[in-house]
Amino acid sequence: MRTIDWVDGAIELVDQTLLPDRLVMLRITTVDDLIDAIRRLAVRGAPALGVAGAFGVVMAGGDREQIARLRAARPTAVNLAWGVDQVTGSADDPLKTALRLRDDDIAACRAMGERGADLVQSLTPGDARIMTICNTGGLACVERGTALGVVQTLHERGRLAEVLALETRPLLQGARLTAWELQRMAAPYRLVVDSAGPYLLTTGVDAVLIGADRVAANGDTANKIGSYALALGARRAGVPFIVVAPESTIDAATPSGEHIEIEDRGDDEVVTVRGVRLAPEGSRALNPAFDVTPNDLITAIVTEARVITP
Ligand code: MRU
Repeated sequence: MRTIDWVDGAIELVDQTLLPDRLVMLRITTVDDLIDAIRRLAVRGAPALGVAGAFGVVMAGGDREQIARLRAARPTAVNLAWGVDQVTGSADDPLKTALRLRDDDIAACRAMGERGADLVQSLTPGDARIMTICNTGGLACVERGTALGVVQTLHERGRLAEVLALETRPLLQGARLTAWELQRMAAPYRLVVDSAGPYLLTTGVDAVLIGADRVAANGDTANKIGSYALALGARRAGVPFIVVAPESTIDAATPSGEHIEIEDRGDDEVVTVRGVRLAPEGSRALNPAFDVTPNDLITAIVTEARVITP
């Protein structure tokens, strides 16, 4: 199954807001509908956003205002702007370029899976117990994932003991999406609440594997909120903290983490869960969707081309 693709002149994508209850494909024919799908996280995850941006430019047919709005639909994952820029900056046919980016993503995820699994196996003598946050699987890319792609490769090699998946409040990408993907690949997993993550790292976890929305030039890395707490816990517990992301997520134009714009998604997602209000009416919230892990807490960044270490 492909999370996002170009089918008969339109974008088809999995509506991730409906998972795990229903697997529904959305057919998108306008840039406005694509921007809406991106903002409400029907399509999400940095590599999938890159491909969405590329297909969106094809759909915009040269309308600069639409392209500018699409490029800015979500600010933190650099892949969205990257995907838009790859197509607008290419002399090639826009659709041909966008389809190439789709195919490159599929190949990059395979390569990251192999490279990342090799790294984990080199650090871990037995079967690996992995902690992860958010969703970095095929749903965040086109076919296979980044960090969860490494988990999948370990599982296929018979070297995965267990995944501890953080549920990932407020939108529960871990509970809704990662658990769904792990179940489909028949991988052993248990779900844990986010606040249990740093403590559980003291109980025998072999590696933390996470994705990235933007890697700054100095290696500081923005990823789903909660990643920084895991990095701190991993350092204290002596657990390798490994970022898995394609080269397209590395942003040489952003010198360090403090220059990365962190999306704030507003009050509603925090004071309610799937439409049910938890907090007293009128409660305000802070809702940063991402945080930044400084480079000195990162053991390695695995891309399709290399393993970057401090
Ligand atoms: O808000 P989301 O669901 O788009 O956040 C996604 C993440 O933080 C992922 O970890 C990141 O995009 C890498 S996906 C391979």
